[in-house]
Amino acid sequence: MKKLSTQSPRRAAVMAAALAACATPTVAALRAFHPGEAWNDTAGNVINAHGGGILHYNGWYYWFGEDKIAGPLGNTAQVGVHVYASRDLYNWTDRGVALKVSNDPRSPIHKGCILERPKALYNARTRRFVMWFHLELNNKQKPGYSAALAGVAVAEEPTGPYRFLRATRLEAGVWPLAPGSGGRLKRLRGAMNSDPKFLERDFRGGQMSRDMTLFDAPDGQAWLISSSEENRYLHFYELNKDYTGLTRRWTRFHADKFEHDNEAPALFFRGGNYYLITSGTTGWAPNPARCFRSPSMWGPWKYLGNPCRGVTRQVDTTFDSQSTFVLAAPGSHNKFIFMADRWRPENPIDGRYVWLPIQWEKGKPILRWQKSWTLRGWPKPNGR
Ligand code: GAL
Repeated sequence: MKKLSTQSPRRAAVMAAALAACATPTVAALRAFHPGEAWNDTAGNVINAHGGGILHYNGWYYWFGEDKIAGPLGNTAQVGVHVYASRDLYNWTDRGVALKVSNDPRSPIHKGCILERPKALYNARTRRFVMWFHLELNNKQKPGYSAALAGVAVAEEPTGPYRFLRATRLEAGVWPLAPGSGGRLKRLRGAMNSDPKFLERDFRGGQMSRDMTLFDAPDGQAWLISSSEENRYLHFYELNKDYTGLTRRWTRFHADKFEHDNEAPALFFRGGNYYLITSGTTGWAPNPARCFRSPSMWGPWKYLGNPCRGVTRQVDTTFDSQSTFVLAAPGSHNKFIFMADRWRPENPIDGRYVWLPIQWEKGKPILRWQKSWTLRGWPKPNGR
């Protein structure tokens, strides 16, 4: 065949390689999780999605989390809720800001507010995506963490833009249902309250809502679980049919041990039981995780101990992290990923992510440190 070019084969190969380098991303694809190490997105920027949760929709995973900035303002919301998308759970593409904070000082999500632990669900009835989060106002009347509101926003697409609907205290004027009463739910009237009586204090104005998560139970009921009563008790609230409100059916966490002072709730379901992993309440400093099991979301919950295994420092600090979510592997009833944050309050943007596989030991979920690990042997992450 006639030679079309006078270029030497070597020069042509160099040119081809240079062209290929321009066309393909310079960031090498990740093939494993590396807990606690800086985790870059597919453009090579550090993933900024703290206190996050994952929505699995249509073969894609969407990771929502708090966008944090560097320095002292870093734990206030200067940007909003960041979202990333992935098919394989290792490699995440930045899909921008799903819910933006507002520049309007009258907005409850005014820039500078505290907007934490965002989670999103897909509502099949309305075909909308619904996000809930913990909100603290950026105003002097309710400084710090005293507002303790639950915020909600909706979107037509998983990545947003999410439209802020409202932020409120919860179930004002509605007493909880008795824990563990299954189908025979009994409305309590403050009778079982322990001292201090925060439940009664907030009865009229609505219950506090701080660290929170959403959970789509296998029976089709979705839940909001949040730390309430000055973090003394977790509350379990049923979400209504469109997921943007509540049903007046809710209960208070009841466990045989450690029923007080739980934060950072993360839930999952396996083999007929619900599992709950929480932390204690030590702010940004890590503390020992707690694990509970119940046959019903209404409780009562049985304490299963600290799920962490390892040396004392790891067990006592949950591997220097605090839970945020448990991701169930689609297509499997047995595989779960524990997701946690390694907070860096002095420079919040540098907070790291600790994702570990949940192992099982005598029917109890267990976490062991892994320097790196893969989903080898798991069902295909995109569920296909
Ligand atoms: C933690 C909580 C975080 C954040 C922090 C503020 O206990 O889990 O989400 O609210 O306190 O100190």
